Amino acid sequence: MEKVKNIILTGGSKGLGLEITTCLLHSGYHVHVINRTLTAELKQLKNQYEDQLYIYLYDLTNVDGLTTFLKQNFPVKLTIGGFVNNAAIAYDDIITNLNLSQLESMYRINVFAPMMLTKFVLRNMLFNKYEGSIIHISSISVHTGYKGLSMYASTKGALEAFSKNTAREWGERGIRSNALIAGFMETGMSASLSDEQRNRIYNRTSLKKPTAKSSVSSTVEFLLSEKSSSITGQNIFVDNGTI
Ligand SMILES: NC(=O)c1ccc[n+]([C@@H]2O[C@H](COP(=O)([O-])OP(=O)(O)OC[C@H]3O[C@@H](n4cnc5c(N)ncnc54)[C@H](OP(=O)(O)O)[C@@H]3O)[C@@H](O)[C@H]2O)c1
Repeated sequence: MEKVKNIILTGGSKGLGLEITTCLLHSGYHVHVINRTLTAELKQLKNQYEDQLYIYLYDLTNVDGLTTFLKQNFPVKLTIGGFVNNAAIAYDDIITNLNLSQLESMYRINVFAPMMLTKFVLRNMLFNKYEGSIIHISSISVHTGYKGLSMYASTKGALEAFSKNTAREWGERGIRSNALIAGFMETGMSASLSDEQRNRIYNRTSLKKPTAKSSVSSTVEFLLSEKSSSITGQNIFVDNGTI
């Protein structure tokens, strides 16, 4: 099958998403990034890869407007070969402080918008008879547990279940879905942690250091490619061996 190059990726403006975008552009993919901010790094990438990078500024908390936005920007004849669900926020606090509106807002970005995007991407792949690949970026917090991350981890746990069941539901049409379980990475999301908190997290990994964004991005590229054609419905851990 001819390699379809259009990939939709959420949260390409910074952190891990920026790293994945750079990696995919370098490999020749056409990357359609959806996030709220046009960062200097994204502008620079646009100058470098003018014909491969497409930037859409959209706030994923607006789940109600998402289908209209997607239909306006992605005509059905533009075959989407892959979807990388990367955008997320971490509302962290202990459960006794749980605030419903903050929880709802996080669920909109981390769970509801990705589900609506998956629906749109699946329909596009089915229409174009394309055996595409979907990747949800999840978190090691689902599997190990960290104080203060129960609400955030629950959004990622929902995605892992959604991914496995997507794989089951659409596998017979050749569409794959996997969750990539990332360990702690040095990004804006983790910037507020103290050195002591960081060291405690590193000490829970076998390699005693932060997970490299480059290792995550090259695994995403692998999961999008034909090299992973027999891998679906899996949780792929890229986490320095967290225990
Ligand atoms: N950092 C870690 O240690 C870690 C560990 C495990 C898993 N993860 C996961 O890795 C992924 C990337 O996280 P990161 O660490 O790179 O975080 P980050 O640096 O905070 O970046 C988050 C990205 O999501 C986008 N985003 C946030 N809210 C959005 C909204 N309302 N609408 C549209 N886009 C929005 C941001 O873009 P704009 O601000 O421009 O909208 C940004 O591009 C996330 O799924 C996260 O849960 C992170």
